[in-house]
Amino acid sequence: MTSLTHCLELDHRRLDAALLETKDLATQGAFTPALDRFRVVAAGLSRHIDAEETILFPALGSAAAGPVRVMCMEHVRLREHLEAIRAALAANSSAWAEETRAFEVLLEQHNAKEERVLYPLSNDVTRGRPDVTTLRAALETAIAVPAVEP
Ligand SMILES: [Fe+2]
Ligand SMILES: [Fe+2]
Repeated sequence: MTSLTHCLELDHRRLDAALLETKDLATQGAFTPALDRFRVVAAGLSRHIDAEETILFPALGSAAAGPVRVMCMEHVRLREHLEAIRAALAANSSAWAEETRAFEVLLEQHNAKEERVLYPLSNDVTRGRPDVTTLRAALETAIAVPAVEP
């Protein structure tokens, strides 16, 4: 049986790949295509964060209150970085590179904490619970990529 958080781990990898493509395009000075690609990152990460905060974290109850609080604080900072990168790319500003480096460091550390601590804990806490299938389906639906990204 696929773990509850497997789809979230795959989503981390998908967003990493889209960010890499954004960086390649921006490095070549192709700011318009870079911004298009970055929209995939921003929309996807926003859905991902919403799914964690509205579906996964509430399902854990008090079992992971400390780690959840830290993850939510980092989500706020990640969203601020998304906006700063978007604005830099939209303005054809070289500031995108520094903003992206800071975002990458935070995102990498955040994802590592989730994958090493919070996701395994989530899988332990929910194992055998009757609602685990519903939770898994809700997460998959919440992070699903729409036919057209906004
Ligand atoms: Fe997260
Ligand atoms: Fe995550």
